[in-house]
Amino acid sequence: MAKDPGRVLIFDTTLRDGEQSPGASLNLEEKLAIAHQLARLGVDIIEAGFPFASQGDFNAVQKIADQVGGNDGPVICGLARASKADIKSCAEAISPAPRKRIHTFIATSDIHLEHKLRKSRNDVLKIVPEMVHYAKSLSDDVEFSCEDAARSDPEFLYQVIQSAISSGAGTINIPDTVGYTTPSEFGELILGINKHVSNIDEAVLSVHGHNDLGLAVANFLEAVKNGARQLECTINGIGERAGNAALEELVMALHVRRRYFNPFFGKDIESPTPLTAIRTEEITKTSRLVSNLTGMVVQPNKAIVGANAFAHESGIHQDGVLKNRLTYEIIDSKTIGLSDNRISLGKLSGRSAVRARLEDLGYDLTREDLNDAFARFKDLADRKREITDRDLEAIVSEQVMQPEAKFQIRLVQVSCGTALRPTATVTIADQDGREHTTVALGTGPVDAVCKALRSLTREQNELIEFSVKSVTEGIDALGEVTIRLRRDGQISSGHSADTDVVVAAAQAYINALNRLVSLDKKSSIHPQHDIVQANL
Ligand code: KIV
Ligand code: ZN
Repeated sequence: MAKDPGRVLIFDTTLRDGEQSPGASLNLEEKLAIAHQLARLGVDIIEAGFPFASQGDFNAVQKIADQVGGNDGPVICGLARASKADIKSCAEAISPAPRKRIHTFIATSDIHLEHKLRKSRNDVLKIVPEMVHYAKSLSDDVEFSCEDAARSDPEFLYQVIQSAISSGAGTINIPDTVGYTTPSEFGELILGINKHVSNIDEAVLSVHGHNDLGLAVANFLEAVKNGARQLECTINGIGERAGNAALEELVMALHVRRRYFNPFFGKDIESPTPLTAIRTEEITKTSRLVSNLTGMVVQPNKAIVGANAFAHESGIHQDGVLKNRLTYEIIDSKTIGLSDNRISLGKLSGRSAVRARLEDLGYDLTREDLNDAFARFKDLADRKREITDRDLEAIVSEQVMQPEAKFQIRLVQVSCGTALRPTATVTIADQDGREHTTVALGTGPVDAVCKALRSLTREQNELIEFSVKSVTEGIDALGEVTIRLRRDGQISSGHSADTDVVVAAAQAYINALNRLVSLDKKSSIHPQHDIVQANL
């Protein structure tokens, strides 16, 4: 392959496919913080969003293109359906970046053609060259994806790919859109494309895949063995339905098993050259940032970034591990930047120390947000002796980067216990600063607070998730509450952390509600479920 970069390119789609996870929607400030951290992590390409979806999505992609994509930084990419309006909007949004890419796509499987697009294969063969040419007239770097490629007729796929490359696509992406394929089948598909598409060496072959059968990472690794050189993945594997292939798992598989993979890159088995450009020490930080800002909790047993992934970090000191780590561990936790939850700051720490630590954790705050975070830090330091990185992350992600608030909590007071019916008195302020107070009874203190908030805000919604966990160990630890609310098919999540879990629950509820209200205002187009209207 002439276009083989000699290593794997990491194409991160956390901000596009990852953000399509129900309830994971991010505001501009949060997207920017994640994009900066992805650049520090060393991803090659950031898919920053789908600019045609809404003005908010357009603005976010444009801002990321302006602030994150430098000459030596990642390529900033935007997604566009195979439509002139989408492609034009994408080109405008990414224009501030010195290195930019338009990623356009159309479905190629018969099931998508018949039931979603209502188009024939011939229609697709006409649209593809026209749209890729158009994209190429607006950007030198064009990627083309055959949506649902894994369920498409390979012969038809070869024709579409051939045409996309002749029209100017420099990257051809093969998605397993519904997470249906198995590793050997996917490997064969990639091999077939490499064999049967005569101009394939003019493009980088990429893969994209969902985890519906839990096979996404395995499928990708088989694709790499058969010539795929770009992997589209997300931090913590978030994304539509069961998510996407997880970046950290792919990168660490290629890192830990380099000797196994080297020959597939035509390298000597012992070659020490890394197979990706990722700075692995940034993995833990990036995982936490994405989890904190999206509210997508990482399962404890998740590979690489789960709390139990490193036995000794989670306090399970096996005799064998103590004697020699390699007995039970294949990765040194330092490789992914996992340090002990070290005590970073205390009561006497100043504003600049807090700012420096936050920057190191990936949070580059505005002056106003920093003031807010510092005030909360001081308040927490009065109640809790040791402030850890996790505490700081909780303070910032759950209290500071919030959407414009329609409602604010002013007071939460609860009485409960063995001989009392849980009763909450709650005061909130509305957008005009007017205060409203009510009292409610509940089955428990949290239920009483949520009932009071529902009656005060008069915003219909269904509470679909409520979880509490402690941020760090110890009796004085912050309790972190995540709440998910649903209304008319829209899901929003809210988080908060406080030494008082009932107060955290009230704040998390209000955060989720403020997000839900702000989502209602945006009418957003889904890149895959909403089809292009009329022509182009
Ligand atoms: O899953 C998929 O097919 C996608 C495409 C838009 C690349 O996300
Ligand atoms: Zn996808």
